[in-house]
Parts: sequence; structure tokens; C-alpha cells
Amino acid sequence: MQRALVNASSNDPEFMTYPRVDSPLPIFDRFPALRDCVAWKPIGHWPTPILSADAFATCLGLKSLHIKREDLSHPDCGGNKTRGLEFLLARAVERGARCIVTFSSAGSHHISKTAWHARRFGIDTTGVFVDQPVSEYVRRNIGIAIASGAHYVRANRLTVIPKTAMAFLRESWRSRRRRASEAAGDSRSASTATGHVYFVAPGGTTRRSMLGHVNAALELKAQVESGALPEPDYIYVVLGSLGTAAGLALGLKLAGMSSRVVGVTVSYRWYCTPRRIARFARRVNAWMRRMDPSVPDVSLRPGDLDVVHTALGDGYALFTQRGETLARRLFQTQGLRTDGTYTAKALDGMMQYIESRKLRESKHLFWHTYFDFPPCDMSADEVPSSVRRYFNVAGQPWAIDDGAPLSTPASPANPRN
Ligand SMILES: Cc1ncc(COP(=O)(O)O)c(C=O)c1O
Repeated sequence: MQRALVNASSNDPEFMTYPRVDSPLPIFDRFPALRDCVAWKPIGHWPTPILSADAFATCLGLKSLHIKREDLSHPDCGGNKTRGLEFLLARAVERGARCIVTFSSAGSHHISKTAWHARRFGIDTTGVFVDQPVSEYVRRNIGIAIASGAHYVRANRLTVIPKTAMAFLRESWRSRRRRASEAAGDSRSASTATGHVYFVAPGGTTRRSMLGHVNAALELKAQVESGALPEPDYIYVVLGSLGTAAGLALGLKLAGMSSRVVGVTVSYRWYCTPRRIARFARRVNAWMRRMDPSVPDVSLRPGDLDVVHTALGDGYALFTQRGETLARRLFQTQGLRTDGTYTAKALDGMMQYIESRKLRESKHLFWHTYFDFPPCDMSADEVPSSVRRYFNVAGQPWAIDDGAPLSTPASPANPRN
């Protein structure tokens, strides 16, 4: 399946499977002037469903737990990146981009999801990456991205910025050459194709993409109003590049909801701070107000949300035993798959937060952001040398569906990381 996507383009029938709707987004209903100012393309399937996770809640001793199924944001390539990509790719198309340049860690969902969806708009992706611990989901992400035509450039912490700049310049030069050759054959395409390269920040977190998560909060509000779930007291979300949490926290305020966002750090403790999340949210709020003065100034403060740092374990993408135990329980009770880098640690952070504050009686909502791609059928010989090491070694085990009996998760008081 993966390889069939290599040559997909905006002319492919597959492209036509995207829903064709004018605007199903509550953010445009609430602030109609934004619709004229911000480019947006329909990609996802909205609203994502709400699951009443009773079996998992009972297993954890919680009174009320719901799960927002962001994994179902697209049937073939879902997860939390879909919301931001509707805005980012629309902007790339608006600017006539032929290529997106971005950077992240090697197995990031950001590069693979961007490459998969961008290909359907006829846009290439170059991902500059830094190395990370090897695991099965990392291989799947890289395989999907390569099958979608992505080009991977390996870097390290010192070279990532110069290599990204070089990739940008190289792709700009290629675009100009492509444009020139098209101009020679077809003067009409030359006048419409500007041939830009579009740069996307790490994790796809920009003020534009965060609008997707502002919208998610308004979508949630509608689901609360329709009775799909009670208004949650707490919403648990992964903190990677912070766009999901910042957009959501802002959107909840704009929606007039009192649910509190609890972010669980999975990337870097120094980066995932309430101050930074609040600053991102205020920037998006100010930008929205410039486009549409009817948007209220909600001045999100660091004290409006909480951050849990203690589920990170030994670092980014290094799995923890507590995360794995909770992931197995979720799989066994609700059939949902999580990953060891993001969502399993978020489950652990959620339970640490609940137990340390004695919140078992409260109403909890878990924001489930992981999309499980099918196994990658590529061998090490078939992938470019820049990513070969991810196909040569087995990597960290992640066996949440191995039939092991349900066990008690480690308590925060007795961590087993
Ligand atoms: C599966 C998954 N969940 C959550 C996140 C966190 O989102 P954000 O980068 O917006 O903080 C990511 C980020 O890459 C992710 O891949």
C-alpha cells in the first residue's frame, strides 16, 4: 500500500477521496471574518468521535473518563497533525509551493504526516532530522514518508539549522529550474506556478497550525452541548512542540469552557513550560484579533494550565515501563493502541496528576493523538542510507498486545522507570 503512494499527485483519484465541504469548522462559524483571511483546505474527518472509556476507567479506579479520538481524524493518516495541516497545506497551496522543508526527529509523526498529506496536493517534502532511539513506530513513520516521496536529510544538533537552510536553498533552486523549464513549454503554467518552497517549523507548530486546535476546542464544546460527554474538569494532552496544548487552551477559553488543560512533557523539560504554552496561545489570540476584531482577548496565563514533567523517564522517545503498562491496559480494555513516545507517557502523566491530587471523582478527558500505521514492509536495502540504521536494528520492544494479563500500573509513589 505504501509504495503505491509514491507517484500520487493531485490528479490521482485518491485525492478526490478528501471530503469536499465549504467549511465544517466551528471556528469559522464563530468568527466568520477569519474565513476570508486564512487559507484552509478540508483534509480531516470532523468532528473526531468521543469514546466513553468506561472499562478503562473502571480498571484505573476513575469515575468518569472519556477519550477524544484524534487518531480517527483521517482513516488512512490520522492523529493530531491533521488539524494543523489543514491550515499549513492550504497556505502552501495558496503560495504555489512545490516543496515543504521542515525539521524534526527521524521518526517523527510530523514529517510522515506532512509528507503523506502534502503528496496529495502535489507537494514534495524534505525532512531534515536528528537521530532518535529506534522503535517499530519510527520505522513505520519513515517508511510511510519515503513511500510518499519524502526526502530525508540527516543532521545533528549543531548542523540542523545550517542543513535546513541549505535544504531550503536547494529546493528553491530546483523549483526555479522546474519553473523555467515549464515556462519554456507552457507559458500559462509559468504565470500561475510561483514555485515557492514553504518552510514549516518543527512539529508543524506555527500560529497558523494552532488555529486547528483552537477549532478543536470549539468542536469539543459542541460535543458537550450535544450530550456526547459532560464538560471535562481536566483534559490531558501530550506536550511535544506545544501546538496542540496551546491551541486547545486558547480555544477552551474562547469557547467559555472551564476545563483545565494538563500537558504531559514528552520532549524536553526546559521547553515544555506553562509560560511558553501561554505565550504561544497569546500570540495566536493576538493574530486572530488582528484578522477579526470580534475575537475576544482572553489573555491566557501560565497559571491557567498545568504541566506534568515526571512521565518523561530518561528522555524523548525512550519508553517507560509505567507508560507501557498503562498502554497495555488501554489496549486490553478498549482496544486502542498507543505509542511509547507520546501517548503512553501521556497516560502515565494523567494518572500521576490524578493520584497526586486525589481527583478520581472528577471528569477526565484524554486527548488520544496517536495514529497506528500498518507495519512497514521495506527492508534496509530499500531505504536511503540516511535512515538505514532505523531498519537495521530491532529497537525498543513495545508489546502492548502480547496477551499478558492485566496488571496494576506502577503508582507514582513507586515509579519503576
Ligand atoms: C502522536 C503525537 N501526539 C502528540 C504530539 C504533540 O503535539 P505537539 O507537537 O503539538 O505538542 C505529537 C507531536 O509530534 C505526536 O506525534
